[in-house]
Order: sequence, then structure tokens, then C-alpha cells
Amino acid sequence: MTGSLHLNQLNDHAWVIDFDQPDSKANVLNQKVLEEFDALLEKIKNLKGVRSLFIRSKKPNIWIAGADVNEIAELDTPEDAAYKAKLGQKIFNHLNSLPCFTVAVINGACLGGGLELALSCDYRLVTNSPSTKMGLPEVKLGIIPGFGGTQRLPRLIGLKESLAMIIEGRIISPKKALKIGLVDDCVEPSILESVMLEIDKKVDREDYLNNLYKKRSSFSKTLQNSRFGRALLCMFARKRVIARTRGLYRAPLTALDILQHTGYHTLQKDLDMEAQAFGKLAATAGAHHMMDLFFKTEKLKKRKRLAEPSHDTIKNMAVVGGGVMGAGIAGVSVQSQIHVRICDLNWEALAKSRGLVTNVLNKACKTRRITKEMFELFRYQTTYTTNHDGFQKMDLLIEAIVEDLGVKSKVLTDLENKISPDTILATNTSTISIDELAKNLKRPENFLGIHFFNPVIKMPLVEIIAGKDTSPAVIETAINYTRKIGKTPVVVNNCPGFLVNRILLPYLNEAVYLLEEGFEIKDIDEAMLSFGMPMGPLRLLDEVGLDVAYHAGQILEDHYGLRMAMAPSLQKLYLDLGLLGKKGGKGFYNHSSRKPVPNSAIYSYLQPSEGNQMRPGKLPSKIYLQHRLMLVMLNEAGRCLKENIVSDEDMIDIAMIMGTGFPAFRGGLMTYGRDLGNERIKSFTQQFYESIGIRYKLSDYYH
Ligand SMILES: NC(=O)c1ccc[n+]([C@@H]2O[C@H](COP(=O)([O-])OP(=O)(O)OC[C@H]3O[C@@H](n4cnc5c(N)ncnc54)[C@H](O)[C@@H]3O)[C@@H](O)[C@H]2O)c1
Repeated sequence: MTGSLHLNQLNDHAWVIDFDQPDSKANVLNQKVLEEFDALLEKIKNLKGVRSLFIRSKKPNIWIAGADVNEIAELDTPEDAAYKAKLGQKIFNHLNSLPCFTVAVINGACLGGGLELALSCDYRLVTNSPSTKMGLPEVKLGIIPGFGGTQRLPRLIGLKESLAMIIEGRIISPKKALKIGLVDDCVEPSILESVMLEIDKKVDREDYLNNLYKKRSSFSKTLQNSRFGRALLCMFARKRVIARTRGLYRAPLTALDILQHTGYHTLQKDLDMEAQAFGKLAATAGAHHMMDLFFKTEKLKKRKRLAEPSHDTIKNMAVVGGGVMGAGIAGVSVQSQIHVRICDLNWEALAKSRGLVTNVLNKACKTRRITKEMFELFRYQTTYTTNHDGFQKMDLLIEAIVEDLGVKSKVLTDLENKISPDTILATNTSTISIDELAKNLKRPENFLGIHFFNPVIKMPLVEIIAGKDTSPAVIETAINYTRKIGKTPVVVNNCPGFLVNRILLPYLNEAVYLLEEGFEIKDIDEAMLSFGMPMGPLRLLDEVGLDVAYHAGQILEDHYGLRMAMAPSLQKLYLDLGLLGKKGGKGFYNHSSRKPVPNSAIYSYLQPSEGNQMRPGKLPSKIYLQHRLMLVMLNEAGRCLKENIVSDEDMIDIAMIMGTGFPAFRGGLMTYGRDLGNERIKSFTQQFYESIGIRYKLSDYYH
């Protein structure tokens, strides 16, 4: 027995290596574990009469979660990173060259380096347990597989299926893995050991490898893996990647280069190319930012509890207001075995709500998150009502009606009388102060904000907003609930706009000021797309709705004053011209065609402004626009930190990436600010302040 690995004998000629890293929920491949593994392989090689070697995990839900990201993040030079990849490749080559039959016995997550290890075995046996999943998610950390994954996967399953797994980091189910030939057999976890014995007894290694060779040389796989097939498949994939990311993320493009230019040399030569490419990527700032983000989210998961949660779990909940947000919240919650009741004003609204919930479940079905049977079950578990009967049985109630302080306060006070003293009462308000809404409540300790982002099914972030009286036990239950439904909760203290909207709305508002200063719609949006934002700010305003942006902007202006004064043209476009954005067909863009086009008719209605005439220095216009838009966000973020709205910079990075799509390769807003540097933040803000005024008042955070 060694540290993380255990070598056991199954019978006279079959051996098992069990991975079981001490003091850890997962098995990860760090230097020490890899060395231990290599030593055991050497031992097996020298043992007489070994016919089969099985590689298993003793962890209940994880086979091997991947290589140790901490060790990768420490690699500063391309040479060190390439060397590290080569060490891993050497050990997996060792496994691959053993004379016995090697079998990966996978019950649980088999990801990254774990899958690369499994690919180096002769045979892969998986269980159909819900925790079994397979994938190479390295691109999500800004790197590519470096232990042979880019080479062994296409050789086994062909390039076409490999592309989605390598360049998108797609994770697949055991059923899919069996279908595409990634695994050889899929069984119930309870019969795993008997199947292992059967494999040892029945499978003849020579025969198996001959058959595998035939399978790999099928016409379709040969065509896909040929030079021509590779060039063609990679060309289409590259176009898709560039359309999605504008080429700003290097990892998928590097993976494509490798996949296109390998596969027709010896395996060793191709592995060398993979290691070199891995080395170059792993040492880039983009990869380091994405790995840091991984550490930040891990840290968030391990945060210390404030108290014991008020509820063990949320089983029954009600959503009041079944519109875009309410239906989204219901559709996502019901997928986690929560019975959801939606309440709206009338049956017409409820019919719409039912359609929206069905859409959410349909999307989950299409992406194979749920099966068709589950789809039916979840539809049945979502019920609809126009009254508040049965609300006293609810564990949680989320209000998602119109964004109006008066209406919300009245509805919340009314609801508080219909629920039990233990029911948690939450609001999905995007901007209104939680303390303001709690003013007339009898039990403010049970009240808080649970702020989802639109579209709920897609956006991972949820802000948990604690009012001054919210009890820590209720906050903990809200955190558990949002985690249960697969979201990432970030706890923020109360203020109008909370964290994300308080930072984002000034950015959207500033884009309208820039328009007033004479910049064109396409130039403003293009500047931010090339920065890495998923959508330009004016296009985003159209998506949000000019009505919603106007009402939210008013709330922020009322509270924060001139610093957040709404651009006069935003008021004009909504109030005078009645433009609503996408939902009304027109806003900053014309949405009648499939690809929205800038709505040039609005230029004549804009309120001219002079800020642009004071543009400092000779900054190219794209950079100028990016600085103008980023600095309003950075300064507001600085104020949030000063006011203790969130605990630290990392929380802002996570929230802006998960709540607004801020480019992950930049590491988040505050990491971007650190890269820009305090001196530049101060000097640019000062120059903008002199020409534009109060909107660019420097936050004390940067003094
Ligand atoms: N739309 C977004 O992007 C977004 C994002 C985050 C948060 N929010 C917040 O979520 C809330 C809802 O927004 P939405 O976009 O879903 O609005 P919506 O207009 O789509 O839906 C509101 C629903 O509430 C219903 N309603 C109104 N009064 C009611 C009452 N007294 N009882 C029951 N139902 C009632 C309406 O009939 C409607 O179906 C708002 O507070 C909004 O600020 C919206």
C-alpha cells in the first residue's frame, strides 16, 4: 500500500490499482500521485503471470477529476509547462505499453487528466451511475489537454466527435460515451466487480486489440482523420469558434491547430507537438486568469457558514409573478425535485407562464440535462394558481412581479399574512433596496433578496442580498437552495442595484452618453465586443428593454444622485418615442430581421453632448471607448468594496463574469483593473473627470 494508490490482487492473474487520495473528496493527478502510479506500473510489469490490470477509484462519485490545477498554475514558462506535460505523457505511455490487458473501471467523474489516463488503457468499462461523466474540459481553464488527450481521443473515436469534447470542453454521459465508442461497456454499478472478473476471464487481449484496430480504421474515421478530412473539419470548427469568441480565447484555436496538424505522424511525434502547444498556452496571462477564476469559485464553494441553515432543504416553493423571471425560476427549480406553484393575476397570464416553463424544460431536454420522462414529471410538478391557497405549506416564496416599490411592498405585506412563520420570503427585485421593501414586514428576519439573472436557465449567478435584519440562518438556506438548483450564489449587502446592476447600469448609461457625444452605435458596441464582452452595451440595453433600463436607472439616480444621472436620450427614446428595445421590435437596433441592424433613425432624436470634444491625448477611438466604459464600472466597483457591499475583489470578478458575461480570459473586472494598474486608473479617471464631470469621480478605493 502506498499514499494515494492501493494495489490489490483480484485473482491469480488480475490486479487492481485503486485511487483513493487521503483527506480529499476527489482524486487528482498531482506530481506525487503520478510518480506513485508510475512505480506501481513498473511493479506490475515485473510481476509474472499478470493477465489483467484494472484501474478503479474508491471515491463514491469521482473516478479521477483531472490533473492538479494548482501545479499547472505554478508553471511560468512554456518550457516548464511543456516539460510537465511530457512527464505525464511518459507515464501514460508506460501504462499503454504494459503487456497485460489494462482496463479503466470508471464509476464517477472522469475528467481531464483522468480521461487521458483512461484513454491510455486498452479497455474502458463505465457505470451508468448519474455521477459518471466524461470529458476534457481543459479549454475552460485556458489550456488544452497535455497528457495525450488531443491525440488518443481522435485516434479512438474519430476527429468529428473529438472536436466538441476538446474545443468546447463538452462533458458527456456514459450513454453517449458508449454510442461514440469512447467506452467499451456500460453497466450497473452493483455488478461492476463481476463484470471485471468476466472481462479478465473472457477477453483475449490480442483479439480485442485487433478488433479495435479494425473499428478505428472504419471508412468514416479514416476519412475524418485524413489530412483532407482534418483540414475540412477544423476549418468549419475554426469558423464557429471565431464567430463565438472572436478569436479572443486562445485555447480552442490552439487545440484546433494541434488537431489539424497531427494524426498522421507517429504517436510520439504528435505527443511532442501537443506538449509544446500546451506549454505555450499554460504560461499565458489568459490561462492564468482562467485558472485563478477556477480557484476563486472553489474558494467560494468552501466559504464558512454564518449559521446553521433555517431549513434542511427546500421541498415546496411558490413563485409570485409568473413572467419571464418567475417562470424561469420555477422551470429551473422544479428540475431539482422541488414542487413549484406559480401565482399570477389571471389565467391568461398563467397560460403564458406555463408556456415559458415548458420552454425552459424543453431547453433542458434538448441539452440532455433531463430526459423526456423527467420533462413530463417536472411539468406535472409545476402547478398554477391565481390565489394564495396552500401558501402556508411553502418553505420558500419568491416574489417576481413588476419592479415598483409601492406595488411590491403591498404584495409582500399581503403575502406575509398567507405564509407560515417559517416560510422564507424573498424578492427577485433587480434594484430596489431590500431594507426599503422590508419596512412594513412583521418578520424582516425571514426576508431577503434572491436575485436571478436573465435568462435564468443560462446565467449561473444569483445574488443573495441580506437586508439589515435578515437572519444568517435564512441566508444559509438561500445559499443551499441556489446551489441545489445549480447556480453560483454570491452574498452581497443591501444597496440599490446591489452589486452587479449597480456596476453594470452606469456602463450601459455611459454608452448612451457616448452616442450623444457623436459616436456611432456600431462603433460603441464593436469596441466592447472586441474587448471580449458577449454583446455590446447598446445591444444589451435592447435585450434588457428600454423600459426596464429606464425604471432601474431612475431608482439608481434617485439614490446615488448626479453620478448616475440618466442619459437624457435614454429617457427620450423610451418616454417620447416609446421604444422598448427587442421586445418592441425597435430600440438602438432594428430587430425586424434575423440579425439586428443599428437603428439610424434615432440619431436625430439624440440630445447632443460635448464630452467627446475633450477626448484626452490621441487614444484610438476603440481604446478610448473601452476606457470610458470600463472606468465607470471600475470606479463603481471600487465604491462597492469601500462600502463593504461584497467581501473582496474576487467576488466582483466572479459576479461580473457569471452575471454579465465579462470576458473570463481577462479574469474579471477587478483583475482587469489590476492589469491596467492603479496609476492608469487614476490618471484616465482624472482626465475624464476634468472633461465630463461627476460621473468620473475617482473612487477612494484607488487613492
Ligand atoms: N427581466 C429581467 O431581465 C430581470 C432580471 C432580474 C430581475 N428582474 C426582476 O424580476 C421581476 C419580474 O420581472 P419580469 O421581467 O419577470 O417581469 P414580467 O413583466 O415578465 O412578469 C411580471 C409578472 O408578474 C405578474 N404580476 C404582477 N402583479 C402581480 C401580483 N400582484 N400577483 C401575481 N402576479 C403579478 C404579471 O402578470 C406578470 O406575469 C422584477 O422585479 C424585475 O426587476 C428582471
